[in-house]
Amino acid sequence: MAKTVFILNGPNLNLLGKREPEVYGRTTLAEIEQMLTAAAGPLGLAIDFRQSNHEGMLVDWIHEARESAAGIIINPAALTHTSVAILDALKTFEGPIAEVHLSNVHQREAFRHHSYVSPVATGVLCGFGPHGYRMALDWMAQRLTSTD
Ligand code: DQA
Repeated sequence: MAKTVFILNGPNLNLLGKREPEVYGRTTLAEIEQMLTAAAGPLGLAIDFRQSNHEGMLVDWIHEARESAAGIIINPAALTHTSVAILDALKTFEGPIAEVHLSNVHQREAFRHHSYVSPVATGVLCGFGPHGYRMALDWMAQRLTSTD
């Protein structure tokens, strides 16, 4: 059976395509989900793609991933820079974790340069737009099939 990767998206990412397109582009979150769903099958993975504007919901989903997912790809959005709760939840997850940001956070305001998530992420991708999610999924496929 294909291993499942949770792809979790934080606050305001539901507005992707409409929200600050000069920063985040015009691709919608639904289009990113479609692109990843199409890619996952040939990579031998199943994906469970979710978005929430609520920190606690993301924490609950990370706990659920402990039982149901082999890996997590997460764009915590603004919670990247504030959430000890997400950091602590991710610490309880034993599989690989990819942190993804559409924009290059290091080119932006200083408060975006610090991530609570990066210390527990296996790797971090930022600045590649929607393609960053695809790169993370490719890496996840390699990682999850080579450790069998
Ligand atoms: C983001 C970067 C964050 O700083 C910001 O708060 C977001 C999106 C990104 O994907 O570039 O909401 O995570």
